[in-house]
Amino acid sequence: MSSASTITTDTLQVVVRRREVQGGAVVVLDLRSADDSPLPAFEAGAHIDVHVAEDLVRQYSLCGDPADAGRYRLGVLRDPASRGGSSAVFDRLSEGTTLTIGAPRNHFPLAADAQHSVLVGGGIGITPMISMAHALQAAGRSFELHYCARSAASSAFVDELTAAPFADKVTLHFDDAGEASKLQLAAILAAAGTSGTHLYTCGPSGFMEWVIATGEKAGLPSASIHREYFNADIDTSGAGFEVVAQASGKTVRVEEGQSIVAALKTIGIKVEVSCEEGVCGTCVCTVLEGECDHRDVYLTDEEKADNDQIMTCCSRAKSARLVLDI
Ligand code: FES
Repeated sequence: MSSASTITTDTLQVVVRRREVQGGAVVVLDLRSADDSPLPAFEAGAHIDVHVAEDLVRQYSLCGDPADAGRYRLGVLRDPASRGGSSAVFDRLSEGTTLTIGAPRNHFPLAADAQHSVLVGGGIGITPMISMAHALQAAGRSFELHYCARSAASSAFVDELTAAPFADKVTLHFDDAGEASKLQLAAILAAAGTSGTHLYTCGPSGFMEWVIATGEKAGLPSASIHREYFNADIDTSGAGFEVVAQASGKTVRVEEGQSIVAALKTIGIKVEVSCEEGVCGTCVCTVLEGECDHRDVYLTDEEKADNDQIMTCCSRAKSARLVLDI
């Protein structure tokens, strides 16, 4: 994922106008304003915060056509390991439900200068790729879209992709379809060449690591490999350390296995959180002193090296003491 853009607090009320379960475990929701007036425009790759319940906010990529100003479309996989987010979307959001969302934000934009874009979605990670494909098609730009999943029967958006205006640029790769269906990404990238080619991926973390490593091996510069994590396995283990909340004039010890957010809460300091797994950027704090041990997937490597901001839901300290501007 991308840059540390400012977190917006703008919210909108929308209504679930259409709800459809696809592939058995994906709910596809069409959101519109109550009076069907246009919604704020969004760019391909953008996501919204969905206020699923009180104190439960989750981020979902917009998977509709950015040219369709009246509708936000989401695809949400019911995750068996859900901490409440995807199950609540399934159980609570039915047709006619009004809900609060955040204005679209984009941490996964298309590169303006790409000569050819290779979009690779794994499972529910196909969602941002669909909006990207619409935008690239509308702009008449060169691209190909690869959708990798277990089987056609367990996948959402298959009918939509095969009927899309860009269907000739879509290739489906299903595990149960045998070796011939396997994504030959190294060969695709070799054919595309490294000059002007941009690679985009979203999906399960192991899948994304493979796509990214294949891109690197093909010689693509890191600036041409773009990724969007929708969840992350965050390691929060490690020794305890001290956090000084400078603006509040308080200090607290973060114990092993405890997050900075949880430790700050014990001394009455509340940090806004959303994903709680280092993906969304909501819990960012400015670092004034100390050395961060970044565990998130939100900040870029360069931003992590700057050591001036930290995701307090998951990251820790390498130094014995961390001073935060909070
Ligand atoms: Fe999402 Fe910390 S709450 S990165």
